Amino acid sequence: MSFRTTTAVDYVEDVSPGTGALPPRAWYATSDAMALSLNGDWRFRLSATADAEDDSFADPGFDAGDWAEIAVPGHWVLQGHGSPIYTNHLYPFPVDPPRVPTENPTGDHLRVFDLPADWPSDGGAVLRFDGVESCARVWLNGTDLGEFKGSRLPHEFAVGHLLKPGGNVLAVRVHQWSAASYLEDQDQWWLPGIFRDVTLLHRPAGCVLDFFVHASYDHTSGEGTLKVESDVDGRVTVPALDIDVATGESVTVPVEPWTAETPRLYDGVLASEGERVPLRIGFRTVVLEDGLIKVNGTPVLFKGVNRHEWHPEKGRALDPETMRADVLLMKRHNINAVRTSHYPPHPAFLELCDAYGLWVIDECDLETHGFVEQAWRDNPVDDDRWTPALLDRAARMVERDKNHPSVVIWSLGNEAGTGRGLTAMAEWIHGRDASRLVHYEGDINCRDTDMYSRMYAFHEEVERIGRGLDGGTLKSRELPFILCEYGHAMGNGPGGIADYQRLFERYDRLQGGFIWEWIDHGIKDERYGFAYGGDFGEELHDGNFVCDGLLFPDRKPSPGLIEYKKVIEPIRIEGWGSPLLERGRDLGEGAYGTVRVCNAYDFADLSAIAFEWAYQVDGETVESGMLPVPALAPGESADVKLPEPPDTGSGETQWTVRALLATDTAWGPKGHQVAWGQFPVSAPPPVHVAQREAPRLGDGRITLGPASFDSRTGALMSVGAVDVAGLRLDVWRAPTDNDDGAPWQPDLRYGLLWRKLGLHRMRHRLDAVELTGDALTVRTRVAPAARQVGLATVYRWTSDGERLRVTVSVSPEGDWTVPLPRLGVRFGLSGAAARVRWFGGGPGEAYPDTRSASELGRWESTVDELGTPYVRPQENGARADVRWAELGGLRIEGEPEFWFSARRWTNEQLDDARHLTDLVPGETVWVNLDHGQHGIGSQSCGPGPLPQYFLRAEPTEFSFVFSEIS
Ligand code: GAL
Repeated sequence: MSFRTTTAVDYVEDVSPGTGALPPRAWYATSDAMALSLNGDWRFRLSATADAEDDSFADPGFDAGDWAEIAVPGHWVLQGHGSPIYTNHLYPFPVDPPRVPTENPTGDHLRVFDLPADWPSDGGAVLRFDGVESCARVWLNGTDLGEFKGSRLPHEFAVGHLLKPGGNVLAVRVHQWSAASYLEDQDQWWLPGIFRDVTLLHRPAGCVLDFFVHASYDHTSGEGTLKVESDVDGRVTVPALDIDVATGESVTVPVEPWTAETPRLYDGVLASEGERVPLRIGFRTVVLEDGLIKVNGTPVLFKGVNRHEWHPEKGRALDPETMRADVLLMKRHNINAVRTSHYPPHPAFLELCDAYGLWVIDECDLETHGFVEQAWRDNPVDDDRWTPALLDRAARMVERDKNHPSVVIWSLGNEAGTGRGLTAMAEWIHGRDASRLVHYEGDINCRDTDMYSRMYAFHEEVERIGRGLDGGTLKSRELPFILCEYGHAMGNGPGGIADYQRLFERYDRLQGGFIWEWIDHGIKDERYGFAYGGDFGEELHDGNFVCDGLLFPDRKPSPGLIEYKKVIEPIRIEGWGSPLLERGRDLGEGAYGTVRVCNAYDFADLSAIAFEWAYQVDGETVESGMLPVPALAPGESADVKLPEPPDTGSGETQWTVRALLATDTAWGPKGHQVAWGQFPVSAPPPVHVAQREAPRLGDGRITLGPASFDSRTGALMSVGAVDVAGLRLDVWRAPTDNDDGAPWQPDLRYGLLWRKLGLHRMRHRLDAVELTGDALTVRTRVAPAARQVGLATVYRWTSDGERLRVTVSVSPEGDWTVPLPRLGVRFGLSGAAARVRWFGGGPGEAYPDTRSASELGRWESTVDELGTPYVRPQENGARADVRWAELGGLRIEGEPEFWFSARRWTNEQLDDARHLTDLVPGETVWVNLDHGQHGIGSQSCGPGPLPQYFLRAEPTEFSFVFSEIS
């Protein structure tokens, strides 16, 4: 005999979207109908299986006095009950759809509430859940309302007939795993719970139900057409436009259009007999025309990011301030577009996008990536039994978000293979909303979609697509192209995004891209600083692949975001004519006097921008002023004459021109820098040190000018009173996530190859210490054990009595098949060396292919602040183009300019660390002066560095000059 006792929870493994919920409809935050937030502290009980407890807890009178308390919205695994799991695409349970494991953490949530005294006694009420992961069953006052799936989508239940003035008992049972988990295999933490708002909405008699605001813009006439379709008849008023029409009626009037750059919203009201709903109307028209995505007749260039919802303590339960912080950070970093990867966000986020201006690709809560492990066999999106669930998801997204002008594209989901279910979703969406376009990256032939979309395509392929040479189906060839994901921002990087941007700007068909991704999903954790996959003992996990954002988990911008801001700046400021940018050439008088300013916005003119110039000598501003620039229209440029440069005598000179907000705006204060350009006038003067001194041998020491060396090893010991330890050639850097690459990458992954070759354990053989009349020469060979390759390295020391120069000559020996990680010298200074000043690139970190934002100037920092706190420690903190640096009583000049970094641990210690808390400051400050660094690329999920950013092993010579700061 066989029997199951679990029929009460069969819905958990049912492929259907659920039972009992109301049809989806437009979401709005407020109206004149009353609402009661049920957010707050709830009673909570966690069970190990779906059926461990019966449903008596839902009965009025149940005593939950000994239950725990939990914050709603929230995830129980982030509140001390169980722990989070991170997998990229692997299902953390056996793949046997729609079955889920017996071990199915199940959270019973209980809340008793009274209605406010003024809650109307007439009409009905609706209970709204904005997001519950992954499956919930709901009871009110002991009545079973139904159950639902679709974690990041709203579900409403009619409850008016069940409400009492006081002591209402709301019981919600949430299962971590359900059939829906197969549809929600996004690359993120698995975080069960009621993680978005729970609200009780009064529904007066004659209230508004669903409504669809159609607000288009005709760029040829300058007129907008408004029509509000409403399930319940009413009137629509827009006072600023003198509009007062019935629902269903259309009206055309002159308007200012809505764009992400000029987010003009008109306040209106939809009034039915029983309710007044505020509207924020943006007039705009999105079309696919001439093979391009156009808004209001103009092709747009997406400068976007992929945004997951993330907070380091609250997970995906975001508060309004955090959502606003995201939008402001995006606007201030020149980002104009968001893909809501990979689910519809909290609806309040879209209201912010409407208000501040961001183009949105609203993506459905759908990913079945784990089926790739079985060649997509049994993929739910190609199995008719699941189609109702897919259509339910499409409808819940579109109906909820259809009234947001910021949403210009609907996305079917992410990485779900292909199949009939997706086609059904696309057909339904196209039928329901012809005013927007449809995206899905997995539809490589563009059968169902309105744009050709790829992720992580290499530059070369993107260029071929731009030129129309990429092949593919006829339909895909005729469509515009976007990179829905690129520039994988894991750890140090992404590198090469400026090279992508140049392609986007060169070829019309390339309408831009979306960096992967906005924020690191690190979880705040006392043990580690921020935790990542594996830190909670997960059986399967993908480590720090969950930390791949432009923001650190605490929302501090990473160097990647600063780089992106510069790369996508909407105003181009260039020295007139490219010869100006060639270093070391004096072009003669007159050639330098002009700056070219180009308005790279798609819609906005430059009337909101003020320009400022500065003339700088050796990185210091000697004169500055305002630069009058005409209010250029989008796409226009102007050559603007700069003032006569002051006569400053010798030194390296340059212009810096900045574009700043002329007044306070909604998203940035007056003076906020939008764009900048810098161009040299005269090159750095040579660093001259006469070879006047002869090295002298005596008492175990060699002295040369201010320096003393160990006579046996030729090692530098001190410069004046400054002790210097272990100065020698250094080629190792703690591999970045991009150096290591992703496991599936077929290409060369240099992080691994460097280690295999032994570049992290180079041996330094001393061949000779030679004293001549004007130099101390130390000959060495630097090579790893067990390998034949090596670097013959000669240090030639000279001095004029006060300053000490070393010229390092490096000659590769053997068959070097890999580039070098870095090439330079490193040495140790006393730990007291806390402050650094330098003239060179700054203020932040830069590498060969992440250096667009590196601004030449005088900078100051502490050694600690030089470092970048990547969640998994790795190479970081280099400053580019450094002419000189001062720290620990030492001044170092470079010829040519060098890459500078300093930290309180060695590169080897950095390499060994797994979390920030592993990095313990030592007694020594380790300084790296690099002649070269290998590029960064984005091979953690994408291309490695482009060939021009390789640091090839080839004969090389470079010099540094040391002197004691008096
Ligand atoms: C993509 C995927 C994202 C994320 C990214 C790598 O394939 O769509 O969700 O996994 O790769 O970080």
